[in-house]
Amino acid sequence: MAVTINTLREYKRNGETFSVLTAYDAAFAQVVSEAGIDVILIGDSLGMVLQGHDSTLPVTMEHMCYHVRSVAKGNRGALVMADMPFMSYGTTTAALDNAAELMRAGAHMVKLEGTDWMTDTIAALSERGIPVCAHLGLTPQFVNKLGGYKVQGRDEKQAEMMIEHACQLEAAGADVILLECVPAVLAARITQAVKAPVIGIGAGADTDGQVLVLHDMLGVTPGRRPKFVKNFMTETGSVQGAIEAYHEAVKDRTFPSEEHTFKA
Ligand code: KIV
Repeated sequence: MAVTINTLREYKRNGETFSVLTAYDAAFAQVVSEAGIDVILIGDSLGMVLQGHDSTLPVTMEHMCYHVRSVAKGNRGALVMADMPFMSYGTTTAALDNAAELMRAGAHMVKLEGTDWMTDTIAALSERGIPVCAHLGLTPQFVNKLGGYKVQGRDEKQAEMMIEHACQLEAAGADVILLECVPAVLAARITQAVKAPVIGIGAGADTDGQVLVLHDMLGVTPGRRPKFVKNFMTETGSVQGAIEAYHEAVKDRTFPSEEHTFKA
């Protein structure tokens, strides 16, 4: 049966975790969805892992729509979440037009990076039938403001603020919250504070779902591997095996372990 937003809510109610993995084309979308992954994310990480840039900023709506269309063709029942690229939601009008394009291309949900400044935009999208995931913590589109790819929410003031933002974004209509690179203790507090399912990456084992970038978990990303990544290829030896192992490890909460987790 196809995964919907209701499936994710039910997982949260029942205390079950769910798996999210990026994919950018039809072939991988088929393998990923047939392995049982609940949500496919067409992340703007494609700017780094497919296009070779050192940030996600060069990714455009044209790129995103191309990859969403490809993934939608290969998908076999996962929920399809698409990133809204840098500056495609700078105003509410732009967000509505661009989110509509991603939905027409085959997305079931869009993801936006930001904090309380997005509340009006999220409300407008939600009221018009577009499910939204709000991405908090390390938001890669803000790398130039953040001064690098760093863990967020380490001091108590920042942590309190992130909890408040998660609650405000949920109240505005966000259906899912995604936390990137935050201490596990903070991610657990946010997961408790909101009813919406919370997905984590580098956010410890207590979020409702886990996400990784496909190329990272297959061990093909060049350069240093971030602390929160596990290479599932080394123990399985095949792409399909690695994706299935990741799905199982998320479901039975053996991934992420301490070594993939940040402390406050
Ligand atoms: O772009 C992406 O792949 C993402 C994940 C890292 C969560 O936003």
